[in-house]
Amino acid sequence: MQKELDTKKPNATILFIFGGSGDLNQRKLTPALFNLSIDGLMPEKFAIIGTGRTDYSNDKFRSHLYKGIEEFSRRKENPPGSWEDFSQHISYLRMDVDQPASYEPIKKMITDCEASWDVKADVIFYLAVAPQLVPEITTNIHNLKLHKPKDKLRIVVEKPFGHDLKSAQELNKLLTNMYDECQIYRIDHYLGKDTVQNILALRFANALFEPIWNSNYIDHVQITASETVGVEGRGGYYEQSGALRDMVQNHILQLMCMVAMEAPVSFEADEIRNKKSDVLNALRKIKKEDVQKYAVRGQYSAGWMQGVEEKAYREEKGVNANSAVETFAAVKFYVDNWRWQGVPFYVRTGKFLKEKTTLITIQFKEGPKYAFPPEASETWRSNRLTISIQPEMDIRLRFQAKRPGQTMSLNPVNMVFSYHDTFHEPQPEAYETLLLDAMMGNPTQYMRSDQVEIAWKVIEPILDAWEKRPPDNFPNYAPGSWGPEDAEALIAKDGRTWITLPPNGKG
Ligand code: BG6
Repeated sequence: MQKELDTKKPNATILFIFGGSGDLNQRKLTPALFNLSIDGLMPEKFAIIGTGRTDYSNDKFRSHLYKGIEEFSRRKENPPGSWEDFSQHISYLRMDVDQPASYEPIKKMITDCEASWDVKADVIFYLAVAPQLVPEITTNIHNLKLHKPKDKLRIVVEKPFGHDLKSAQELNKLLTNMYDECQIYRIDHYLGKDTVQNILALRFANALFEPIWNSNYIDHVQITASETVGVEGRGGYYEQSGALRDMVQNHILQLMCMVAMEAPVSFEADEIRNKKSDVLNALRKIKKEDVQKYAVRGQYSAGWMQGVEEKAYREEKGVNANSAVETFAAVKFYVDNWRWQGVPFYVRTGKFLKEKTTLITIQFKEGPKYAFPPEASETWRSNRLTISIQPEMDIRLRFQAKRPGQTMSLNPVNMVFSYHDTFHEPQPEAYETLLLDAMMGNPTQYMRSDQVEIAWKVIEPILDAWEKRPPDNFPNYAPGSWGPEDAEALIAKDGRTWITLPPNGKG
């Protein structure tokens, strides 16, 4: 999985970014490409062509992107002249994606680049566009008949991939009729996060964890992906989505796969993806009539968030005044296989929650206390492994220690590995990793068609049940809380509670 960075660079690449004038390119893609270039990881020969409806000269387009670098790049200082050099590789193509004639210049741009570089380039089409445009754009690209070998042409598709199982199947069918599966890169940006990739290192590069990573020792697993922002002006998109589609179907299920998968025999793309598909296939399908027992939804009201008065979701721009769309979801999953039999996986996600955090907690079962006097075990806590994906980026293992003194009194303590304190080199952004992978032709951290479809299958009963039975209590949580009370009840009825990191993250 880890790229051989010292010895390998991507081949000569021509990268077309559809939606080039949009937000994602300005905030994420161009800053990521620019950082790769500063780190010396871009190909020797490359061209980046942004496409869009807006009229831009190349210079105007570059200045628009530069504003994104200033505001959103992880690097606050860039080597002198680096932007000037990098931006020479960027140009702009105005197009109407529904007009086949608009695509013609693409062919010439490719042949011109290849002629001037004197090399056959890899061509990547990155679709940073609204999902409904994907079929049209990919068909028009296909119709260009670029005559590129499979391994030289790739299509990167942003999420959401489909709206439900049926639409995802249709989109997969359309794409795989025109392109080989190995050419289709479905993005889930969580998979590009270093701390997410580190789960594989933690589990499979250490002899310590694997023997106890199962239902004999683990009581339950929790995944929290909470945000302190609302829908941030994306009400129109969010109305079609909701928390279950926006976060659970993709990011959270992918995190679950990393935690629950069997050990791979290699880091080959298909091997890793097969192991993840096994997890998704083993997820218990919730019966429609049981959805209420397994899933909880919420929507935020108006209220105060970090000292700012915020509107209710239903008052956001582009949102229906009676919207039934959930901005919070919590689900209890089971992975029905030998390793995980009977171990609940509680997951929750939501907008305008108390803290921004992505946290995976492995809660171990209680060990026997009988050797200790009752007072020693008053503060007894079972072992717990907490993996903070963001923003803290650390892993902590809680265990019991003897308090200093003449009595055998116990206290839970933590062993902490912090990314920031241990490694001093800056972490790449998820999009840097994923774009580099796309340029290297490595799809390991992208989703395969079957994974996307099974993930839809898993959440479809919840989507259906919620659609059929509109909520009668929305809005049901205030900004700055941990979501609706029902979410507490979901886990409390099993005798457990949601776990958060202590305030300073150090407890
Ligand atoms: C996106 C969702 O995929 O992930 C957003 O569409 C969400 O609604 C975002 O805010 C969260 O990503 P991150 O990396 O900030 O946790």
